[in-house]
Amino acid sequence: MRLDLDFADVINKLITLLEGLTGGDIFFVLKNNYVERHYYTKNGIWKKIHFIKQILKENKYRKLNHMLKEYPVYYPFLLKGNYCYIIPIIIKNSLKGYTFIVREKTREFKEQEIEVINNILSQAGVVIENSFLIEETHAMNFEIVKSLVKAIEAKDTYTKGHSQRVAAISNLIAKEMGFTPQTMKKIDMAAVLHDVGKIGISEKILNKVERLTEEEYNQIRKHPENGYEIVSQIKNMLQIAEIIKYHHEKWDGTGYPEKLEGEFIPIESRIISVADTFDAITSDRSYRKGASIEKAYEEIMINIGKQFDPFVVKNFLNIEREKIIKIIKI
Ligand SMILES: [Fe+2]
Repeated sequence: MRLDLDFADVINKLITLLEGLTGGDIFFVLKNNYVERHYYTKNGIWKKIHFIKQILKENKYRKLNHMLKEYPVYYPFLLKGNYCYIIPIIIKNSLKGYTFIVREKTREFKEQEIEVINNILSQAGVVIENSFLIEETHAMNFEIVKSLVKAIEAKDTYTKGHSQRVAAISNLIAKEMGFTPQTMKKIDMAAVLHDVGKIGISEKILNKVERLTEEEYNQIRKHPENGYEIVSQIKNMLQIAEIIKYHHEKWDGTGYPEKLEGEFIPIESRIISVADTFDAITSDRSYRKGASIEKAYEEIMINIGKQFDPFVVKNFLNIEREKIIKIIKI
């Protein structure tokens, strides 16, 4: 099992694995912080909670703790026509919760089977702990990210909402391209932060109505690298920082900062580039009014193979226009 999965994924994978192995219903109760996350993540988990609650109700146990007090762990026992097996989850030598396996009376737990289940669950504690730590870091990073975005938006009134729209369009493209939820999360965060490097540019330049001088223009062109510098300081965000660094590169190698070409540009940056341009064309700026959606589509198509990766654009064009229009109107 990979260790970079998020918490809900880990629980879900463990449940699927144990279900397949035992043919029973699996259900986790995890103490403290884990409980809420566990209960509310996926529909499948809800059903299992409901199922176990039903059993407990039928047996007049109002709380799970009663069941845990009366029945032994590591020994299968019969409970109202079902076989139950309770295994504690130990993380760093402390008890963090329990796994319940429930199945029909006709299917007794065999010794060998119990051994395999115990083996899997002895590893599960480590995996759950790791995924939880990763999730915590993500949550913390997300808070930092949100405050960074607020800081940019406070300076540059015309780009207010731009980052969110770029993230939403990038998300649709990534989904169309069939990326995993992990990659989609990465794209989402990079898209929200893509212009964070503008923090270092003066408000006068950002909101200037007149034509920019060459010096001012050069300052603006530095924002992808500035963004990289800022985001790469945050723990575990180096990859996000790299996506940000290359969001102004062009497929034909004429972009900046490094003039990367074609597939040398990270795919996530190529996706954000299409979403960014599309939204920039349709939104109002200090020096002009936003153009129509038709005009934006036209611009994207004209630049296939020049500014944009043809495959990314192909996927972008596959998305229903209604969905894109809904985002643009936010
Ligand atoms: Fe940008």
